[in-house]
Amino acid sequence: MRIVSGIQPTGNLHLGNYLGAIRNWVRMQDDAQAQGGQCLYFLADLHAISMPHVPGDLTSNTREMVAALVACGIDPERSILFNQAQVPQHAELQWLLNGTARMGWLNRMTQWKDKAGKNREGASVALFTYPVLQAADVLLYQTTHVPVGDDQKQHLELARDIAQKFNNDFASEDAPVFTLPEPFIPAEAARIMSLRDGSAKMSKSDPSDMSRINLTDDADTIMQKVKKAKTDPEPLPSDKEGLAGRTEATNLVGIFAAMSGESVEGVLTRFGGEGFGKFKPALGELLVEKLAPINQRFVELRGDHSALDAILKSGAEKARTLALPTLDATYNALGL
Ligand code: ADP
Ligand code: NA
Repeated sequence: MRIVSGIQPTGNLHLGNYLGAIRNWVRMQDDAQAQGGQCLYFLADLHAISMPHVPGDLTSNTREMVAALVACGIDPERSILFNQAQVPQHAELQWLLNGTARMGWLNRMTQWKDKAGKNREGASVALFTYPVLQAADVLLYQTTHVPVGDDQKQHLELARDIAQKFNNDFASEDAPVFTLPEPFIPAEAARIMSLRDGSAKMSKSDPSDMSRINLTDDADTIMQKVKKAKTDPEPLPSDKEGLAGRTEATNLVGIFAAMSGESVEGVLTRFGGEGFGKFKPALGELLVEKLAPINQRFVELRGDHSALDAILKSGAEKARTLALPTLDATYNALGL
């Protein structure tokens, strides 16, 4: 079992990024290893240039994301952690696959339609062809499994179509060049809402810093933010049905459950009938307890560029070693 997954390098990481994305990667790493498999995790920095971007921010966001991943439990000794730009085989294979991908296939991609909007003439060529880069990202490693959310199903289908057509056109049946990757639906990710408004997603784009718990927040800041979080005047219900229509309460209880590993029902059994005056300090303390080791490692690593660069360099070397045989086979099959 070989799993490949990419993440956009983004800065200003918060609790939503941790519970909604990064923690799932840590679980996948541990599950894969228990089954004798391996995960390749990459920062999608080559994808980032398909949209307008600031070069300096891309560099610092890539470092910040690596620091967060390692601080949260991605182990660069057990998983292969790297950024695309340092493994040129991704871009190389994309070009080779451009000969197989069809314009019609890419034209049907809903993300292309959504992101280009009405301004197709002004969109970058990379925005149009990045699903082919995504295909290269997984096909390069003979990947067997790719975790996909709803928004990525179509792109994985495309990768399979490209692999199948390439194998048909250029390889013999008993020696296919590419493995067809299987999709799997990862464990449902938590969706964390703003502390100031239970109907808005917790996001780095929210102008109010009080709306989110940042991975850089110290214990006092976390306690303050939880204390000031928006709530309603009712005590907590003792069952899930009692949370209906109470978005802020639902969010805080959900965060408690996600951090403690309990079910929502379990948390309500404990706190049902209590007011927020009692629940909030307990939530604050739980967050501080669980996030403190992550925060400490994150802040330390974030400032240590040479350590981060060493992690990426070593990951890129391992990734290149795995990628080369497939790339060679691709050139060969094409008569190049
Ligand atoms: P932001 O919304 O802060 O700009 P990004 O869009 O950069 O965050 O998201 C990076 C990753 O974190 C994505 O996988 C996204 O699904 C996840 N994520 C971001 N915000 C949340 C949230 N509030 N709850 C759950 N997951 C989130
Ligand atoms: Na966003």
